[in-house]
Amino acid sequence: MDISLITYDGLPDLDPDDCLLRDELVKRGHKCHTCIWDDDSIDWSKFDVSIMRSAWDYHLKQDKFYAWIDRVSRVTKLLNPPDMMKWSSHKIYLKELGEAGLPVIETLWVMKGETAGGLFDSLQWEKAIVKPAVGLATFGVKRFMLDEQGRKDAQAHADHLAITGDVMIQPYLTSVEDYGERALAFIGGEYSHTVRKSSFQKLAPGGHAGETSVPTDEEEVAVGREVLKFLKNRPLYARVDLVRDFEGKPKVLELELVEPSLFLQFAPPSAPAKFADALERIVELHKV
Ligand SMILES: Nc1ncnc2c1ncn2[C@@H]1O[C@H](COP(=O)(O)OP(=O)(O)O)[C@@H](O)[C@H]1O
Ligand SMILES: [Mg+2]
Repeated sequence: MDISLITYDGLPDLDPDDCLLRDELVKRGHKCHTCIWDDDSIDWSKFDVSIMRSAWDYHLKQDKFYAWIDRVSRVTKLLNPPDMMKWSSHKIYLKELGEAGLPVIETLWVMKGETAGGLFDSLQWEKAIVKPAVGLATFGVKRFMLDEQGRKDAQAHADHLAITGDVMIQPYLTSVEDYGERALAFIGGEYSHTVRKSSFQKLAPGGHAGETSVPTDEEEVAVGREVLKFLKNRPLYARVDLVRDFEGKPKVLELELVEPSLFLQFAPPSAPAKFADALERIVELHKV
């Protein structure tokens, strides 16, 4: 197959994880091309399949990105599937997951054009997180002490974000500082491995931002599997990010189906082969 691995212009040579993936695909006889998602000179119809990996600037170019998904998915098989990517790019999906009974972090919403009003005055939390509903790599994410000044600052940040998009407000779960956030990687819909992310981890190629390999925790994997079951179709790749709440229960922070690092460097050595198997299976099914 002719395969494009899709990145953005801040990472034109792919991240180290995706190099492992590319090596495996090339070993199997596929031709791999690295493509910048918004390079308008690319003829996407040349590729049998195009795999989104690291468009880490899509939140800054949202309209362009959604139009790109529509356009490109008409001429090449785009993975993850276009509707799945669009759905997961706006964190309002957490509301759907919560309504389906899945354990998600308590979240209040201020929709675009609204104001947080006196919302922060009634909160009993010690600290709150305010963040945009479309964002990645901590873009726009801020933590506030909910003392008198902090409530004002939190409201100002929420109102500022709400000028351009929907806003989320959550209790600040302190376990991110010690136990850490847990990123569970799923390949072809199957659980693969877990990585610990440090809090407010900045954007960086896989393996370069302070993440570490941690043993699998069955309680966390059970939550991750339930989250994936919610999806109608199996994604080629997925990451479920969990944080422990104040009672120590795992709560969903994100379900990433667009551009997650899969941290393959921290995975069992068979992970790239599993990814390639899953890809070949999806393409084969699609042919029938
Ligand atoms: N409710 C929360 N409690 C504690 N830390 C949080 C919370 N929400 C976000 N963070 C911190 O901010 C980071 C970025 O937030 P996240 O929701 O993962 O958005 P994104 O990764 O898309 O920017 C998280 O990795 C975590 O360190
Ligand atoms: Mg995150």
